[in-house]
Amino acid sequence: MDLIHLDLRCLYAIVICTAFGSTHSSNAEIKVNPPQDFEIVDPGYLGYLYLQWQPPLFLDNCKECMVEYELKYRNTDSENWKTIITKNLHYKDGFDLNKGVEAKIHTLLRGQCTNGSEVQSSWSEATYWTSPQGNLETKVWDMNCIYYNWQYLLCSWKLGTGVHFDTNYNLFYWYEGLDHALQCADYIQGNGKNIGCRFPYLESPDYKDFYICVNGSSKSQLIRPSYFIFQLQNIVKSLPPDYLSIIVKDSDEINLKWNIPNGPIPSKCFIYEIKFTEDDTTWVTTTFENEIYVRRASNESQQLCFLVRNRMNIYCSDDGIWSEWSDTQCWRDGMWKEILLFFLIPFAFVLIFILLISCLLTSKQKALLKMMFHTKQEVFSHQETLC
Ligand SMILES: *[C@@H]1O[C@H](CO)[C@@H](O)[C@H](O)[C@H]1NC(C)=O
Ligand SMILES: *[C@@H]1O[C@H](CO)[C@@H](O)[C@H](O)[C@H]1NC(C)=O
Ligand SMILES: *[C@@H]1O[C@H](CO)[C@@H](O)[C@H](O)[C@H]1NC(C)=O
Repeated sequence: MDLIHLDLRCLYAIVICTAFGSTHSSNAEIKVNPPQDFEIVDPGYLGYLYLQWQPPLFLDNCKECMVEYELKYRNTDSENWKTIITKNLHYKDGFDLNKGVEAKIHTLLRGQCTNGSEVQSSWSEATYWTSPQGNLETKVWDMNCIYYNWQYLLCSWKLGTGVHFDTNYNLFYWYEGLDHALQCADYIQGNGKNIGCRFPYLESPDYKDFYICVNGSSKSQLIRPSYFIFQLQNIVKSLPPDYLSIIVKDSDEINLKWNIPNGPIPSKCFIYEIKFTEDDTTWVTTTFENEIYVRRASNESQQLCFLVRNRMNIYCSDDGIWSEWSDTQCWRDGMWKEILLFFLIPFAFVLIFILLISCLLTSKQKALLKMMFHTKQEVFSHQETLC
């Protein structure tokens, strides 16, 4: 299939032969045209653009030649071009639509028809810019998106400054797998304005670019849209670990343990940060496991405490947001004495109290029964004597 395409395209390659000087007997100069109709197409995916082109004009003579295209593109403010070499007639990638996009392409010929060397055409160029409407202050700012526990996506923003009272903002999003960009269905509101979005359940949105546009409308002015791109696994904030425990094994070895947070995040995706306090000194360490062994610095330390937080590790994401800290778990020297003092003794008191009360009650009840029995017996004996 590919070969047939290639042959067809080879037909278009132009080979112009010109004799050079007398000394270079049969030196040929081979030329090729740039691709035609090079354009950048916006399918409405909020930053995911199509770069497409047609094969160059002309021509024959090139059955054995390989035609390829070298494509370079970038956002206008970027220093570096991304370079792609392809045999296809299109390429797709994500761009930051807050800025312009520029791209250029040329044809490459390689193979026997060029006698082993590479022949390049001149460049075809194209640019794309979403018509920049409204001034910069009308954009939303302080956009903040968090993917809670790898389950619930929530974004919030602040309103543009100096916008008219009737201005309101809307959020649209798209990622690969959706037919078209969708509008937020559940806005978070403040003073009647949209200031955030609770996303619905998203079907396999991880490890793909996630595109967001927040634009707005007002009767009296134009509002500048804002574009955002991120990958959801990089903005995960998970629940903090729970069920912390400290086990002091012998005089100086300590085992700290905690539960992996509930939810869809695989346990291999966590890194934990532990803040450990021994009397007045605190240190911090990290681990991939949900337990750690530490040594006591001093034999005489009275109190050991620790707390843990977690985030996604480098095996599952490029970045992560630390969870909140867990509750603090402590161990105290002579904690048994304290347990005895603060728990067992009051408990014993309560127990004794309950026992006493119930004893009292039962003895009272017995007395009552006895009385009733006595009166019955008396009645009975009366009857007996009657007979
Ligand atoms: C191709 O290269 C060979 C040796 O590299 C040379 O002898 C020959 O003249 C070249 N032909 C053309 C058309 O350039
Ligand atoms: C906001 O963006 C969406 C998605 O691109 C578009 O359909 C809509 O017309 C835009 N609204 C305004 C007011 O520009
Ligand atoms: C810890 O205390 C024990 C006695 O309670 C003592 O024998 C031991 O040497 C101490 N170890 C250190 C490292 O201080």
